[in-house]
Amino acid sequence: MNKSITTRALSLIGATALALGISTGAAAQEKVKVGFMLPYSGTYAALGNNIEEGFRLYVEEQGGKLEGLDIEYFKVDDESDPSKAPDNANRLIKRDQVDVLVGTVHSGVAMGMAKVARDTNTLLIIPNAGAGAITGPLCAPNIFRSSFSNWQPAYAMGLVAAEKFGHKTAVTVSWSYAAGDESTGGFKEGFESKGGKVLKHLSLPFPNVEFQAILTEIANLKPDAVYVFFAGGGAVKWVLDYAAAGLKDSIPLYGPGFLTDGTLEGQGKAAEGLYTTLHYADDLDIEKDRQFRAAYEKRFNHAPDVYSVQGYDAAQLLHAGLKAAKGELKNRDAIIKGMRAATIDSPRGTFTMSRAHDPIQDMYLRRVEGNLNKFVEVAVKSLEDPARGCRMK
Ligand code: BEZ
Repeated sequence: MNKSITTRALSLIGATALALGISTGAAAQEKVKVGFMLPYSGTYAALGNNIEEGFRLYVEEQGGKLEGLDIEYFKVDDESDPSKAPDNANRLIKRDQVDVLVGTVHSGVAMGMAKVARDTNTLLIIPNAGAGAITGPLCAPNIFRSSFSNWQPAYAMGLVAAEKFGHKTAVTVSWSYAAGDESTGGFKEGFESKGGKVLKHLSLPFPNVEFQAILTEIANLKPDAVYVFFAGGGAVKWVLDYAAAGLKDSIPLYGPGFLTDGTLEGQGKAAEGLYTTLHYADDLDIEKDRQFRAAYEKRFNHAPDVYSVQGYDAAQLLHAGLKAAKGELKNRDAIIKGMRAATIDSPRGTFTMSRAHDPIQDMYLRRVEGNLNKFVEVAVKSLEDPARGCRMK
């Protein structure tokens, strides 16, 4: 075809499209499609909900746009089911054509998402799941985490249990999937590095909450301490059952903060006095956190928790990338560079990204008082996930 005819035809199409308000190539870039792949049902449903609320709050605070780009949301309930992860992720990527995947809570599901994100080169921000593989062998330039690795709070608790509380023996308990295995493994590493000994690891399948046999075994083993990984509905049930079995006063119970975060209403007095370690607490002396908590309560009529913070920071991280790319969604290299270099002004305290794209952050020791996880002290300052098996520089 004659070149000038082609050029004239194209400009005519452009002018007509503008007059009719139809999107042309440039206009199509003016929004970011965000795909939430989160649990909206099952034992982790509240966690998924709070992550989404945190993300939306940050975007609303920016006037509904990030770097001049509108945000359009798509949602899939991942049901915390790893076997459905590839289909669910592909639905958002291929059917909805999202620019960025945000998910999820469950480590097994997140590993499935990471594989799809690597294969399709989709930007993935993980707002919770702590699977070591994500910042280990599966690490990739397009995969980021705004939360923690399972190792981080667990290792910190192992140190605290041995050094501060002087325990010599412990039993660990968890659901038998990546998060439980890695959390109890991280505790063991910290605890045994300071002279403690884990006598036995007990487990049950996710999301089973029939704890009776395990509680009986703990009573027989009589360790100095018990460390458990449970979260969401399972954490509520464990803490209630542990107290009802009469163990709370004789064998101190510890965990990563998921044991008592977002769960205190359901746990009531059974949780009072429990110590946990996490990258968040409910009464941090941080102005950003005071503002965040007030805004979140006003917007959603309930208090935020660590999951809300991680969702909020996932949006902050995306914003940092878009800022670096000056809103040019197609400039993926600049977006990734911006996210890698970001210093996030988080309600938990500022953090930067490790080389494997996991937050380098303080781990706090907290104690339950009433309906709050109260800050006790910094357990480990600027703790970085070891990124074992990650080949990214
Ligand atoms: C996980 O599967 O990685 C996880 C789930 C809930 C809380 C913390 C970690």
